[in-house]
Amino acid sequence: MSSHDARGQLVDAIQDRTARVAVIGQGYVGLPLALEFSRAGYSVVGIDADPDRVAAITVGQYPTHDIPSETLQALLDGGRYRVTTDFAAIEDRDIVVICVPTPLRKSRDPDISFVAAAASEVASRFRPGQLVVLESTTYPGTTDELLVPLFEARGARIGADCFLAFSPERIDPGNATFKMKDIPKIVGGVTEACTRLAALLYRQIVVSVREVSSPAVAELAKLYENVFRNVNIALANEFALMCRRLGVSSREVIDAAATKPFGFLPFYPGPGIGGHCIAVDPFYLAWKMRLNGYEARFVHLADEINAAMPGYVVQLVSEALNERQRCLNGARVLALGVAYKRAVGDTRESPALEVLHGLRQRGAAVSYADPYVPSVVIGDAEFKAVPASDENIAAADCVVVLTDHPDFDYARVSELASLVVDSRNATWGIPAPHGRVVRL
Ligand SMILES: NC(=O)c1ccc[n+]([C@@H]2O[C@H](COP(=O)([O-])OP(=O)(O)OC[C@H]3O[C@@H](n4cnc5c(N)ncnc54)[C@H](O)[C@@H]3O)[C@@H](O)[C@H]2O)c1
Repeated sequence: MSSHDARGQLVDAIQDRTARVAVIGQGYVGLPLALEFSRAGYSVVGIDADPDRVAAITVGQYPTHDIPSETLQALLDGGRYRVTTDFAAIEDRDIVVICVPTPLRKSRDPDISFVAAAASEVASRFRPGQLVVLESTTYPGTTDELLVPLFEARGARIGADCFLAFSPERIDPGNATFKMKDIPKIVGGVTEACTRLAALLYRQIVVSVREVSSPAVAELAKLYENVFRNVNIALANEFALMCRRLGVSSREVIDAAATKPFGFLPFYPGPGIGGHCIAVDPFYLAWKMRLNGYEARFVHLADEINAAMPGYVVQLVSEALNERQRCLNGARVLALGVAYKRAVGDTRESPALEVLHGLRQRGAAVSYADPYVPSVVIGDAEFKAVPASDENIAAADCVVVLTDHPDFDYARVSELASLVVDSRNATWGIPAPHGRVVRL
């Protein structure tokens, strides 16, 4: 197949929506993406290595509140989306998008094994005329150094009969304002032809696409976004510690500063950093820089500050109880929220779990309420969620707000709890007539 034919056929198939798409990894990123392509009219197969996940999706179940069961079921019934564990499904696909995890090893170095495994499956089935896009957040150079050689070893001519690009996913689970289609995509192809094709693909499903000159630029753009967030949250956290020492509310200060209409973006303190992105991605950059003889100082300082926050919240609970002549050992502590952020059920890297672990280690009898998380493991024990009922709130010696889910009635919490430690400023502005509220 000539390069002109390969590219031309893909352009036509993308534009007339006859291109067959595979999305590898059907998690927080891959499933919504697969559904978006399917809604746009493409035939989509989702491939996931986890048979339990595939079985759940097949019957319309998915553990996020962003995709209601009925929506998923309707798309499955519509016949343009299906899901499987079988990589043979790639064989007739024109487009393959890879959305597998990129966690850290215990050493906090990148664990790129999921990307390598998925890309090897795709490369081993390469046929001329395919577009392959990596979406997983990763270190700069992954596309050029890891993916390109895998495909070239199979005889692919990148930019001629095989089109490779990196396009970072930027979704924000739980964000009702900005859904996948509302968030501009960044696309960096290995060659210009790769960039153009990948950009054309994404223009079918999102508001706008920014083409950049290389995969490394796109890889770094995603890392910069997340380092920016990580560093600014660390700044807000350290600022909150300083404000407490001065007896001033950090929330009031930040909100006042945020009235400046330019040059300022508000970030707020919390019990630490969690999730699969902000807590993890900066280390992908730091690792790559170390290989290049450079220490990413902001990344390390931000991590130091953010990592100390769960311990600081434990200390706040202990001190607040102490002031009421209670000790943490034996105290009943009810946590509101264990997810790493509001309106999601994701507990990966959640600082709430570390706070609860620290409280338990000091002898507190902990329980938690979280409408999105039915159970969690803390240390050696499994906990089941309890309702955030009036009885449970009133019975606790301390209610600690760890995730500011919109589902909790904070006015009721402030009214009924004998003591509230609010690590999210969720009770900000609400009077606490009978109790005492300690805020970050
Ligand atoms: N979750 C987010 O909010 C978010 C936002 C932007 C970017 N990202 C990035 O997107 C990537 C995916 O994250 P996620 O949150 O969707 O992860 P996830 O754990 O929710 O989903 C990943 C899925 O990939 C599957 N998988 C793992 N290895 C596989 C393989 N070799 N073949 C097929 N399937 C495989 C897993 O079973 C899982 O279902 C990561 O790089 C992450 O950093 C995530």
